[in-house]
Amino acid sequence: MKVTIVGAGNVGASCADVISYRGIASEVVILDIKEGFAEGKAMDLMQCATNTGFNTQISGVTNDYSKTANSDVVVITSGIPRKPGMTREELIGINAGIVKSVVDNVLVHSPNSIIVVVSNPMDTMTYLALKATGLPKNRIIGMGGALDSSRFRYYLSKALDKPSNDISAMVIGGHGDTTMIPLTRLAAYNGIPVSEFLSQEELDKVAASTMVGGATLTGLLGTSAWYAPGASVAYLVDSILNDQKKMIACSVLLEGEYGQNDICIGVPCIIGKNGVEQIVEIKLNDAEKASFAKSADAVRNMNADLQS
Ligand code: NAI
Repeated sequence: MKVTIVGAGNVGASCADVISYRGIASEVVILDIKEGFAEGKAMDLMQCATNTGFNTQISGVTNDYSKTANSDVVVITSGIPRKPGMTREELIGINAGIVKSVVDNVLVHSPNSIIVVVSNPMDTMTYLALKATGLPKNRIIGMGGALDSSRFRYYLSKALDKPSNDISAMVIGGHGDTTMIPLTRLAAYNGIPVSEFLSQEELDKVAASTMVGGATLTGLLGTSAWYAPGASVAYLVDSILNDQKKMIACSVLLEGEYGQNDICIGVPCIIGKNGVEQIVEIKLNDAEKASFAKSADAVRNMNADLQS
């Protein structure tokens, strides 16, 4: 199985690292526009093979899409990340041009690939990729919910003082500091609602920390995070390539689901070899429905900026 990662920066390289270390794909091609950069990252990663014991073949190329031919999955991480104080939304102008040219090139050589969009603002970039390519909606998947959900589980684990692997929780809605919706009502510790252990005030605090989880890291690191984003992409790619049919919150085109049309936004999806195999409609309560509608409006407004 072959995966191409466009963008050899922090997220792209971290994703290649997890994919190879965990043996998710047999071949990974990293492509970057910066001369020699992807080649360097690939060489560095391949020199881990003997000590960590993986067999994935990783190669790097400078903007040569012919080397990406016949990829099963293509991950798009090319673009600029945010700096402290910036919102994801401020990246739209530059990243829209990059994502559009990348998907065009990718499809020339991998016409049957499933495309995972990571570049921010991710919901809008996913929508752009979908409109620009005309691909069926199951083949364009935005990665944001997997990361936000894992941050949610992290903050829950800290509040509960329990391992995050014992906690199940999901974030839906837009992938933005003010648009994501951590579903505290449905979060559980070993099947028991977390509301049994945490007060509403504590849960609200966890939700608030989750929503600014990315901004917190950007403030600390001086640029946006990469380990958890890379691992979240690898988790999604694993479910596609190995047909695991995991339920993962992903940004996908809605056509009536959750009362929305013509936007890509985070909802629970079954992810398998065909990409998005099912959108799972969970019953939201009135407050969650209102939050989702508000989030969808914000994403829709952002999409309108694509035309301007
Ligand atoms: P980075 O700056 O470390 O890497 C970006 C790479 O893209 C650079 O190496 C650059 O040379 C390359 N690039 C730029 N234009 C290109 C083109 N036309 N073709 C090929 N390569 C090109 O940035 P980082 O931290 O890896 O973030 C990448 C993107 O992912 C950003 O937009 C960031 O906001 C987003 N992101 C999204 C997350 C999500 O959950 N969806 C999480 C974290 C980051």
